[in-house]
Formats: sequence, C-alpha cells, structure tokens
Amino acid sequence: MGKILKNYPLLKHNTFHIDINCDIFFDYDTEAELVEYIKSGQLIGVKFLHIGSGSNLLFTGDFEGTILHSSIDYIKIKEESSDDIIIEVGSGVNWDDLCAYCVKNNYYGMENLSFIPGVAGASAIQNIGAYGVEAADLITTVNAVDVETGSTRVFRNEECCYGYRESVFKKELKNKYFITSVCYRLSKISGFNLRYGNLKNSLPENPTLAQVRETIIRIREEKLPNPAVIGNAGSFFMNPVISKVMYEDILTRYDDIPCYRVDENNVKVPAAYLIEKCGWKGAKHKGAGVYEKQPLVIVNNDNATAEDIIELADNIVNSVYDKFNIRIKPEVNYI
Ligand code: EPU
Repeated sequence: MGKILKNYPLLKHNTFHIDINCDIFFDYDTEAELVEYIKSGQLIGVKFLHIGSGSNLLFTGDFEGTILHSSIDYIKIKEESSDDIIIEVGSGVNWDDLCAYCVKNNYYGMENLSFIPGVAGASAIQNIGAYGVEAADLITTVNAVDVETGSTRVFRNEECCYGYRESVFKKELKNKYFITSVCYRLSKISGFNLRYGNLKNSLPENPTLAQVRETIIRIREEKLPNPAVIGNAGSFFMNPVISKVMYEDILTRYDDIPCYRVDENNVKVPAAYLIEKCGWKGAKHKGAGVYEKQPLVIVNNDNATAEDIIELADNIVNSVYDKFNIRIKPEVNYI
C-alpha cells in the first residue's frame, strides 16, 4: 500500500534543516507499492518530487504537491564469480550502510565513497563521487519505474550517460523515471584507487580495506560538517570545467591553483580554491555561512532561511565571476 501522509513536515528530510511542509508525502517499501500508486492516477496533474535523504536539496518554501520517498531496503547478491560480485541494492538503502556492508564482506570498489550522505537510488542519478571514484564506475544497471505508466525499465550503465555529477536522469529523463534499485559490480580481488590528492600519505603501507574506509571517513569528518549537527548539503557548488588556455592564464596570477585533467583541452579546478581566494572562508550572511574548513560547503549556522542561503550563494558566484571570469554552478537543487 505505502504510507500516504498529509501536510507532512520535511524538516527531517532535508539536511539543510529547512522547516517546511509538503501537501502529501508518499513513502513506499516495495516497487509494487510504487507501481500501484502511479497506476491509481494520484500523480496525474500533480506537482511531485522524489527525494532520497534530502542531502542535495534546498527547499525554498512549502512544497505544494507530492513528495515521494523510497524505503526499499534490501541488498541481494545477483551474480558472483571468483573475481567479482554484482549486488542489487534497494533505492532506499543508506549509502554509507552499503559501503560498510561491502567493506565488511571484502568487496572492493566502494570504500572511497564511504560516509557520503544519501541513499543508493540517488547515487545513480547524481553520480556521487569522491577521492577519484564515482558511482558510475561501479553501476552495472539501474532499475526504474516510468512515472506516467508505472511500467518498469532496466537501464544499462551506458544508457545512463554518466558524467561528473551528471546522468540522463538529471537531463533528458528528468522526472520521467523513479529508481527502485541499483546494481553495482564490486571486486573480490584486493586493489585500491589511492591516486587522489595525498590520500596515500594518510594511509599505512599496504592498507586493508577497512583501513581505507576508516581513513576516508576521518578525512571527511575533518573537512566536512556533519549535517546532523550543522545543516548543510555537502558541496554546494560543482567544480568548474575550464579550458586549458583559461587555466594557463589564471596560473600567471595564481601559481598554486590545482587542476585535474578532463580531456585534451579542458581541466577541472576546485571551486573551493576560487571561493577561498575571494575571501569567503568562514564568512557569514544572516543565518547562513561558508564553512571555515571547506568553503565549497554552505552551512545553516543559525536558523537560516532558504533566501539567506541563496543570497550568500549568489554573492559567492558573483565574486568568483568578477575575480576569475568563471561562473560556478550550484550542485544543490533549489526546490
Ligand atoms: N581547497 C582550497 N581550500 C579549502 C579546501 C580545498 O583551496 O579550504 C582546494 C585545494 O586546492 C584542494 C582542492 O580544493 O586540493 C580539492 O579539495 P577537496 O579534496 O576537499 O575536494 P573538492 O574538490 O573541494 C570534491 C567533491 C567532494 C568530495 C571531494 C573529495 C565536488 C563538488 N565535490 O570536493 O564531494 O568529497 O572532492 O573527492 O566535486 C559533495 O559532493 O558533497 C562532496 C563533498
């Protein structure tokens, strides 16, 4: 059946801790419940939004429509060989619980993504990434339900058109499919991706899988605010991709600006660097602020409203543009 709740508070469903309500909240435990809800016609002509754990959203006011939420919560083995394993994971499974499960079972591949807030379903939309690994590197298939018809569809990895924090579910197929489960391929053979930054220096020689996970968690805890304590949505902005020519020009003025190769002609630069150089680290604007240890993160210091946060974000975007001629874009979705 699923649970249908009216005039439901979303405070616990957004990590920015914005206190707003939605008209209807539909929470389901199985794909069949979701299909039944769609087929009942309750979404026809209604404004709707499917949320995960609300760790990438900024609600700008009450949501006059239906919020859908998956509580599909299972992890099952789909295929297994001596070298690797494919697991199918319900869209409502907490992301870090999944990482912990993989590490506990000696499945390699997900450890660098430890402690990212969110759920499995969102990983396939947002293509979450950290420390040189992206969800797209692990995803084999995505199981989804058509928003209009309730029919099911399996997307192969190539059909998801993954890019940096991008997928077909954020573009052409935005609001067209609800994701019910995701399949990930993990390796049973020891091997790590430790090339990112100075990750290797933070680890012992020949680390174990558990040590890599613990180190990633420690690094994240040192740099990123815990949303349970201080409202935030992780990186507020994406790292911009700029041409190499533009990068070389900035280098003449800022000789320590880092870059990551994108392709022959383009590089990605850390938005955190640009924002810090504009003097925003630790800055405050009404109830909102720029996190002092990682300026890519906007925090809700003191009952910030969505307007406070957006004003601060706009001021940051404008000052980065004035100084570097680069227009950084929010990663957080304004709703
Ligand atoms: N930097 C500064 N000042 C700072 C912090 C960072 O100048 O205060 C510069 C440094 O040059 C540093 C560089 O930014 O080398 C990169 O910093 P960091 O390794 O912290 O990563 P990031 O590029 O700022 C991205 C992701 C994070 C992810 C980390 C680690 C995006 C938008 N963000 O941040 O993802 O955890 O890499 O891989 O791509 C998230 O999406 O919510 C998130 C936290």
